[in-house]
Amino acid sequence: MSLAVTSEAAVSAEAARRRTFAIISHPDAGKTTLTEKFLLYAGAVAEAGAVKARAGRRHARSDWMALEQERGISITSTVLQFTYRDHVVNLLDTPGHRDFSEDTYRVLAAADAAIMVLDVAKGIEAQTLKLFEVCRARALPVLTFLNKYDRPGRDPLSLLDEIEAQIGLRPTPVTWPVGVPGDFRGVIDRRHGGLVRYRRTARGSTTALEELVDAAQAAAEEGDAWRRALETVDLLDEVGAELDLDSFLAGESTPLFVGSALTNFGVRHLLDAVVELAPAAQPRRDATGSPRALDAPFSGFVFKVQANMDPAHRDHVAFVRVCSGRFVRGMTLVHGPTGRPFSTKYAASVFGSERETIDVAYPGDAVGLVNASGLQIGETLYEAEPVAFPPIATFAPELFASVRPRDTGRHKQFHRGLAQLEREGVVQVLRDPDGDPAPVLAAVGALQFEVFAHRLADEFGAEAELRPAPFKAARRTDRQTSEHLRRVPGVKVLSRSDGVLLALFDSPYRLQRVEQDHPEWCLDPVVQAG
Ligand code: G4P
Repeated sequence: MSLAVTSEAAVSAEAARRRTFAIISHPDAGKTTLTEKFLLYAGAVAEAGAVKARAGRRHARSDWMALEQERGISITSTVLQFTYRDHVVNLLDTPGHRDFSEDTYRVLAAADAAIMVLDVAKGIEAQTLKLFEVCRARALPVLTFLNKYDRPGRDPLSLLDEIEAQIGLRPTPVTWPVGVPGDFRGVIDRRHGGLVRYRRTARGSTTALEELVDAAQAAAEEGDAWRRALETVDLLDEVGAELDLDSFLAGESTPLFVGSALTNFGVRHLLDAVVELAPAAQPRRDATGSPRALDAPFSGFVFKVQANMDPAHRDHVAFVRVCSGRFVRGMTLVHGPTGRPFSTKYAASVFGSERETIDVAYPGDAVGLVNASGLQIGETLYEAEPVAFPPIATFAPELFASVRPRDTGRHKQFHRGLAQLEREGVVQVLRDPDGDPAPVLAAVGALQFEVFAHRLADEFGAEAELRPAPFKAARRTDRQTSEHLRRVPGVKVLSRSDGVLLALFDSPYRLQRVEQDHPEWCLDPVVQAG
């Protein structure tokens, strides 16, 4: 009894130390550089440059995604764990490619917070906006980092307006820059008012030197730059743009930091905010809406599935976010949907395709289960007390293509590959039970199609012929509405293998029109409710 109590307290204490988050940004805003600098500040790498070197090694070791190499992009989600100030930080990397994909939804489902990185010269770009919508749908608290302040850029005040106007999130600057973009001296930390002055180190390869300067000295030494920064901070005080923990946790305001990932300016403040402001792992609600206590027996859900990461082993890794209890490698869990036992002998923490065996994990952590071909996205694993977590919310696909095997002699391989890639959630596969036998692929990002075609050829030996399908929008519908929709020109109802019915529209205007004319019909932009 006393042993159990001690162990429950230990699980709660470990969960409280966890910070699990994802970085969202437009490509090139500096996500990779910032990730690397986090590792530098956490002491996990001695010198910046290691992440890129590691990424290089990864490519050298494994060619399972030749596409990654060809396009210089990263398709796999990675889970990076490091300790900082006695906290365990789990950084879930959203796919870094030039295109948005459904993986992003799933990774964000496993995160407890997000950091939005904006390039100070560019502000909010289309991709940031879309990613932010997903954060909002998940009510994730968001920290904001205005990056690249070492270069000429826009007036940061105008960026505050843009954040508020475009994404409806109230920015509350915690630090404010002294100096203009391109002549960045340091920041005022609004929590204590002094100047934190930075000095560059060679190529930003070691942590930036910081000097705390009081207001009188700052005024004497930084002159106009200091006075202008103080004026803006007064203005921010007047409009009430104060750090507010409750509205941050509710996803209504965003604590904002200014810096330069390249020179390391402001990186420490941001990482401190991850441990001081971002929430620890919280009890997660199950499908009935009741929270599963953190110290309840083990439970977790699969948020990503990836096959053939290591071509030498043809394996299948399922990434599980731990929701409650202690995970110990080797324990036997129950696979929620089938009630069958699931052995966790092969568990790993995975960074790209490099893995280290993981022995113990706590709520907030992500575990890669190797040889987990029976596990699918959204499924629950548990120990002792049964629980089922709700499915991961996904949104209506926006891109569609019909697909056929190029060589009909290889249709067996084609269908095997199609089924596997559908299971992994690489694309959605839609079929018309009464019509064209060629399935329609649906995605939220064009790269999903490329990955599909590439893997089908590479791993299953079946070349696919993809043709754009004449649809521009989709909504989830039900059987009753589908009967009406079948009579509307320009609309087609197709089904997914899990039974979900999707209505596809030949133009966004058609969809708008149908929604206006028939508000009583079931047309849901959320394809899978979370
Ligand atoms: P991403 O992962 O969000 O796509 O961005 P990444 O970190 O790869 O950064 C994109 C480019 O922006 C890189 O330059 C990087 O060095 C630069 N960068 C990142 N943060 C800062 C910053 O704070 N200030 C400045 N001035 N530049 C920054 P690159 O030339 O594309 O690559 P590299 O040759 O430097 O590796």
